[in-house]
Amino acid sequence: MLRSHTCGELRLENVGQEVNLTGWVQKSRDKGGMLWIDLRDRYGITQLSLEEGVSEASVLTTARTLGREYVVKATGTVIERISKNDKIATGDIEIKVTALEILNPAKLPPFLIEDDTDGGDDLRMKYRYLDLRRSPVRKSLELRHRMGQQTRAYLDGQGFIEVETPVLIKSTPEGARDFVVPSRMNPGEFYALPQSPQTFKQLLMVSGFDKYFQIVKCFRDEDLRADRQPEFTQIDCEMSFVTQEDILNTFEGLVKHLFKTVKGIELGDFPRMTYADAMRLYGSDKPDTRFAMQFVELNDLVKNKGFKVFDDAELVVGINASGSAHFTRKQLDELTDFVKRPQVGATGLVYARVQEDGSVKSSVDKFYSPEDLAQWAQAFDAKPGDLLLILAGFADKTRKALNELRLEMGSRLGLRDKDTFSTLWVLDFPLLEWDEDSNRYHAMHHPFTSPKPEDMDLIDTNPGAVRANAYDMVINGVEVGGGSIRIHDRGVQSRMFNLLGFTPEEAQAQFGFLLDAFEYGAPPHGGIAFGFDRLCSLFGGADSIRDFIAFPKNNSGRDVMIDAPSPIVQAQLDELQIDVRLRG
Ligand code: AMO
Repeated sequence: MLRSHTCGELRLENVGQEVNLTGWVQKSRDKGGMLWIDLRDRYGITQLSLEEGVSEASVLTTARTLGREYVVKATGTVIERISKNDKIATGDIEIKVTALEILNPAKLPPFLIEDDTDGGDDLRMKYRYLDLRRSPVRKSLELRHRMGQQTRAYLDGQGFIEVETPVLIKSTPEGARDFVVPSRMNPGEFYALPQSPQTFKQLLMVSGFDKYFQIVKCFRDEDLRADRQPEFTQIDCEMSFVTQEDILNTFEGLVKHLFKTVKGIELGDFPRMTYADAMRLYGSDKPDTRFAMQFVELNDLVKNKGFKVFDDAELVVGINASGSAHFTRKQLDELTDFVKRPQVGATGLVYARVQEDGSVKSSVDKFYSPEDLAQWAQAFDAKPGDLLLILAGFADKTRKALNELRLEMGSRLGLRDKDTFSTLWVLDFPLLEWDEDSNRYHAMHHPFTSPKPEDMDLIDTNPGAVRANAYDMVINGVEVGGGSIRIHDRGVQSRMFNLLGFTPEEAQAQFGFLLDAFEYGAPPHGGIAFGFDRLCSLFGGADSIRDFIAFPKNNSGRDVMIDAPSPIVQAQLDELQIDVRLRG
């Protein structure tokens, strides 16, 4: 190799050694008599030093031509530094340079390649290969690498085998739109890119691979957010001859293993909560349980006192923002504006402060007596200094809005520390959800999820009440994974397709391969898939998954570096027999 050591490797014990280092020029400082260069590679930074009158003149001349990001090879002797730098691992030493070779000059980069860069998002994305030189981004990818390695180590140790499934497939219904790929050899026909390998992993169970996993790309054409990319990665898993309990234990084990080996954190057993309780206590199926602030329902206490907003409401529900009675009028107005934003959707906010003497002062004092308000405080288990925040309206909408308010208060009160991890299994999701637009039921998880046997008799009478053997793993309010026990019986699966509005012919055309497979000895099976990018960003303490993906897309689904998607030439379209008529 061109180098004897990396830029992160040399220490005091190497003093006196002749070394060769290669890397990029982070910056250089020329003080006339002395010249220092910070040389960087993926392992760290090492300081090079040259001295007027001591270093050879030609070497000094070369050093003075170096610009930021030049690629160089430096030869020299390791010496102890006079002024040490305890911020970097190599800060006790420097290299007294005897030879310097420019391996490649570089144009001035469009933004600073340093931890705190001056580059905006767009610029960083366009020059992602430069952004990846910055240590925070590089560290995110190193973390991802370790997570991947430890995932494989754990699952291999548990007897899972990794099997690759195809990328050019037929649509799998995970609820998003498919990305499609035209087939030249079959004009007018399209492959779909997998939204997940769901049907394939189930077929592998029929094949007898009773423990499967795959770290796999999935593709979903859906609206993008900080935690969603059009192509993302799952740790996709499936097991045969298991109960839900076996699956929860196995994959709780995986996440504990990752926390232990990657972050050095020993987690206790994960609490469990039903979907119904999560919605009732937090208004969310992915509650952030780093802090309590659970919902308290007040219908019994607040009705029929002349306050129309509460009287007309389907649900009156609030939270106790403990210790927040000092919130000023201005802060409370801000919170009111917050809940009234269209994304949150509440019509207003009622608040009540528990005073030092235990009495309660509310924004609706004219409707409620001090005794009424004392009962409120009791319902919230409130102490002097607490602030009660109450919303009212239609039940679902109000719970959703209060969930947003709860998270906002959690953030404002500093209760959502990125280094604290609170895990939760959410169990017993409903099998179906009603879709207003299409006026029919949709599978809440996916159509292969099995109803709870004890709820089977509700399927015809009250399908919306049927619970599924479906579960999500939630950490700090992020849905990191989800799965279910599957249907493995052709009859039940056909009935499910029927409930979802498929005719038998449509079901056969789209999923005949799976229905047929179920007739050749399908074992009982179930599984889960983790959002690998999300898990990595959670471990890395970031809100966005972007920096845990080497080359991510922007919020419009574009890769601005390679400029994709982009038109294709007419000859390609002709070959595919595709007639593109742009509308608008
Ligand atoms: P689900 O659709 O819940 O289940 O996906 C599993 C996990 O994948 C992550 N995820 C995403 N991450 C980034 N960007 C996206 N666009 C995105 N969409 C989903 C989430 C989610 O929990 N086949 C089933 C799994 C199963 O039943 O075994 C499935 O895909 O963290």
